[in-house]
Amino acid sequence: MEVKPLKYKELPGLSTKQLSEHHDVLYAGYVKKFNEIVEKSKTVDLESTNGSYSELRELFVEKNFTLNGIKLHESYFDNMTDQPSVIDGTIKTLLEKRWGSVEKWQVEFSALGIASRGWVVLAFDYQLGHLENYIYDVHNQGGVADTELVLVMDVYEHAYFLDYATARKDYISAFMACVDWDVVNKRVAHQV
Ligand SMILES: [Fe+2]
Repeated sequence: MEVKPLKYKELPGLSTKQLSEHHDVLYAGYVKKFNEIVEKSKTVDLESTNGSYSELRELFVEKNFTLNGIKLHESYFDNMTDQPSVIDGTIKTLLEKRWGSVEKWQVEFSALGIASRGWVVLAFDYQLGHLENYIYDVHNQGGVADTELVLVMDVYEHAYFLDYATARKDYISAFMACVDWDVVNKRVAHQV
Protein backbone atom coordinates (compact mmCIF):
# COMPACT_ATOMS: atom_id res chain seq x y z
CA MET A 1 0.00 0.00 0.00
CA GLU A 2 1.05 3.59 -0.48
CA VAL A 3 0.57 6.70 1.65
CA LYS A 4 -2.31 8.79 0.27
CA PRO A 5 -1.52 12.53 0.38
CA LEU A 6 -3.67 15.02 2.27
CA LYS A 7 -5.94 17.16 0.08
CA TYR A 8 -5.29 20.24 2.29
CA LYS A 9 -2.37 21.73 4.25
CA GLU A 10 -4.40 22.98 7.18
CA LEU A 11 -8.03 23.13 8.27
CA PRO A 12 -10.01 25.88 9.98
CA GLY A 13 -9.69 23.98 13.28
CA LEU A 14 -6.49 21.96 12.80
CA SER A 15 -2.99 23.34 12.22
CA THR A 16 -0.46 22.17 9.63
CA LYS A 17 1.80 20.90 12.43
CA GLN A 18 -1.04 18.86 14.02
CA LEU A 19 -2.09 17.40 10.67
CA SER A 20 1.42 16.63 9.45
CA GLU A 21 2.40 14.84 12.68
CA HIS A 22 -0.79 12.80 12.44
CA HIS A 23 -0.60 12.09 8.70
CA ASP A 24 3.11 12.01 7.88
CA VAL A 25 4.28 10.22 11.02
CA LEU A 26 1.46 8.15 12.54
CA TYR A 27 -0.64 7.20 9.51
CA ALA A 28 2.42 6.76 7.27
CA GLY A 29 3.86 4.48 9.98
CA TYR A 30 0.88 2.13 9.66
CA VAL A 31 1.36 1.90 5.90
CA LYS A 32 5.06 1.05 6.37
CA LYS A 33 4.35 -1.61 8.98
CA PHE A 34 1.47 -3.15 7.01
CA ASN A 35 3.74 -3.55 3.98
CA GLU A 36 6.40 -5.12 6.20
CA ILE A 37 3.82 -7.59 7.58
CA VAL A 38 2.66 -8.55 4.06
CA GLU A 39 6.28 -9.28 3.08
CA LYS A 40 6.99 -11.33 6.24
CA SER A 41 3.75 -13.29 5.73
CA LYS A 42 5.16 -14.72 2.50
CA THR A 43 7.85 -16.67 4.34
CA VAL A 44 6.25 -17.28 7.76
CA ASP A 45 6.31 -20.83 9.13
CA LEU A 46 2.77 -22.29 8.77
CA GLU A 47 3.64 -25.54 10.56
CA SER A 48 4.41 -24.20 14.06
CA THR A 49 1.29 -22.06 14.40
CA ASN A 50 -0.15 -21.66 17.90
CA GLY A 51 -3.00 -19.77 19.60
CA SER A 52 -0.92 -18.52 22.55
CA TYR A 53 2.08 -17.39 20.58
CA SER A 54 3.37 -17.98 17.08
CA GLU A 55 4.88 -15.77 14.42
CA LEU A 56 1.86 -16.46 12.18
CA ARG A 57 -0.58 -15.36 14.90
CA GLU A 58 1.33 -12.19 15.77
CA LEU A 59 1.64 -11.22 12.10
CA PHE A 60 -2.09 -11.63 11.45
CA VAL A 61 -3.16 -9.82 14.64
CA GLU A 62 -1.01 -6.84 13.65
CA LYS A 63 -2.14 -7.15 10.03
CA ASN A 64 -5.70 -6.36 11.21
CA PHE A 65 -4.45 -3.57 13.46
CA THR A 66 -2.34 -1.80 10.84
CA LEU A 67 -4.81 -2.28 7.96
CA ASN A 68 -7.72 -0.93 10.02
CA GLY A 69 -5.41 1.90 11.11
CA ILE A 70 -4.82 2.72 7.44
CA LYS A 71 -8.47 2.46 6.38
CA LEU A 72 -9.83 4.48 9.32
CA HIS A 73 -7.20 7.21 8.93
CA GLU A 74 -7.72 7.50 5.16
CA SER A 75 -11.49 7.82 5.65
CA TYR A 76 -10.95 10.37 8.43
CA PHE A 77 -8.54 12.59 6.49
CA ASP A 78 -10.68 12.36 3.37
CA ASN A 79 -13.94 13.26 5.15
CA MET A 80 -12.61 16.70 6.16
CA THR A 81 -12.21 19.75 3.91
CA ASP A 82 -10.78 23.29 4.02
CA GLN A 83 -13.63 24.42 1.74
CA PRO A 84 -17.15 25.42 2.88
CA SER A 85 -19.43 22.35 2.96
CA VAL A 86 -23.12 22.14 3.81
CA ILE A 87 -25.01 18.95 4.67
CA ASP A 88 -27.58 18.05 2.03
CA GLY A 89 -28.74 15.21 -0.22
CA THR A 90 -28.75 11.50 0.59
CA ILE A 91 -26.82 11.69 3.87
CA LYS A 92 -29.25 14.31 5.23
CA THR A 93 -32.22 12.09 4.29
CA LEU A 94 -30.64 8.97 5.86
CA LEU A 95 -29.72 10.79 9.09
CA GLU A 96 -33.22 12.25 9.41
CA LYS A 97 -34.75 8.83 8.75
CA ARG A 98 -32.67 7.18 11.48
CA TRP A 99 -32.45 9.91 14.17
CA GLY A 100 -35.35 12.25 13.32
CA SER A 101 -33.02 15.18 12.64
CA VAL A 102 -29.38 15.90 11.76
CA GLU A 103 -29.03 17.74 15.09
CA LYS A 104 -30.11 14.67 17.11
CA TRP A 105 -27.59 12.50 15.26
CA GLN A 106 -24.84 15.06 15.85
CA VAL A 107 -25.53 15.21 19.60
CA GLU A 108 -25.05 11.42 19.85
CA PHE A 109 -22.02 11.35 17.52
CA SER A 110 -20.32 14.18 19.46
CA ALA A 111 -21.07 12.56 22.85
CA LEU A 112 -19.53 9.33 21.56
CA GLY A 113 -16.41 11.38 20.79
CA ILE A 114 -15.97 11.78 24.54
CA ALA A 115 -16.97 8.17 25.31
CA SER A 116 -14.64 6.50 22.80
CA ARG A 117 -10.92 5.92 23.36
CA GLY A 118 -10.09 5.85 19.65
CA TRP A 119 -12.67 6.27 16.93
CA VAL A 120 -16.26 7.27 16.33
CA VAL A 121 -17.73 5.87 13.13
CA LEU A 122 -21.00 6.65 11.43
CA ALA A 123 -21.55 3.48 9.42
CA PHE A 124 -24.15 2.04 7.11
CA ASP A 125 -25.08 -1.29 8.66
CA TYR A 126 -26.18 -3.67 5.92
CA GLN A 127 -27.73 -6.15 8.35
CA LEU A 128 -29.82 -3.48 10.12
CA GLY A 129 -30.47 -1.62 6.86
CA HIS A 130 -29.72 1.85 8.23
CA LEU A 131 -27.04 4.16 9.59
CA GLU A 132 -25.59 3.58 13.08
CA ASN A 133 -22.95 5.28 15.24
CA TYR A 134 -20.26 2.94 16.55
CA ILE A 135 -17.14 3.37 18.66
CA TYR A 136 -13.84 1.60 18.20
CA ASP A 137 -11.54 1.82 21.25
CA VAL A 138 -8.65 0.46 19.17
CA HIS A 139 -8.29 0.09 15.39
CA ASN A 140 -9.09 -3.63 15.56
CA GLN A 141 -11.50 -3.65 18.52
CA GLY A 142 -15.05 -2.41 18.06
CA GLY A 143 -15.52 -2.80 14.34
CA VAL A 144 -18.93 -4.23 13.46
CA ALA A 145 -19.13 -6.81 10.66
CA ASP A 146 -21.10 -6.03 7.50
CA THR A 147 -20.89 -2.26 7.87
CA GLU A 148 -19.53 0.47 5.61
CA LEU A 149 -17.60 3.54 6.85
CA VAL A 150 -19.60 6.72 6.19
CA LEU A 151 -18.06 9.34 8.52
CA VAL A 152 -14.97 8.71 10.64
CA MET A 153 -13.70 10.84 13.55
CA ASP A 154 -10.35 10.17 15.22
CA VAL A 155 -10.49 10.99 18.95
CA TYR A 156 -7.12 9.59 20.01
CA GLU A 157 -5.17 12.37 21.76
CA HIS A 158 -2.62 12.37 18.93
CA ALA A 159 -5.35 13.72 16.61
CA TYR A 160 -5.79 16.99 18.52
CA PHE A 161 -3.39 17.38 21.47
CA LEU A 162 -0.97 19.81 19.78
CA ASP A 163 -3.85 22.20 18.98
CA TYR A 164 -6.29 21.60 21.84
CA ALA A 165 -4.35 19.96 24.70
CA THR A 166 -7.04 18.21 26.79
CA ALA A 167 -10.01 20.19 25.35
CA ARG A 168 -11.43 17.30 23.35
CA LYS A 169 -14.90 18.88 23.14
CA ASP A 170 -13.45 21.86 21.27
CA TYR A 171 -11.66 19.53 18.84
CA ILE A 172 -14.93 17.64 18.22
CA SER A 173 -16.69 20.94 17.42
CA ALA A 174 -13.85 21.87 15.06
CA PHE A 175 -14.08 18.47 13.36
CA MET A 176 -17.86 18.80 12.87
CA ALA A 177 -17.33 22.23 11.29
CA CYS A 178 -14.99 20.90 8.60
CA VAL A 179 -16.78 17.69 7.56
CA ASP A 180 -16.69 17.24 3.78
CA TRP A 181 -20.36 16.41 3.15
CA ASP A 182 -19.71 15.83 -0.57
CA VAL A 183 -17.35 12.98 0.31
CA VAL A 184 -19.84 11.60 2.84
CA ASN A 185 -22.62 11.77 0.26
CA LYS A 186 -20.53 9.80 -2.24
CA ARG A 187 -20.11 7.05 0.37
CA VAL A 188 -23.89 6.65 0.72
CA ALA A 189 -24.89 7.40 -2.89
CA HIS A 190 -25.62 3.73 -3.62
CA GLN A 191 -28.01 3.47 -0.63
CA VAL A 192 -30.80 5.26 -2.53
FE1 LIG B 1 -5.02 8.84 14.38
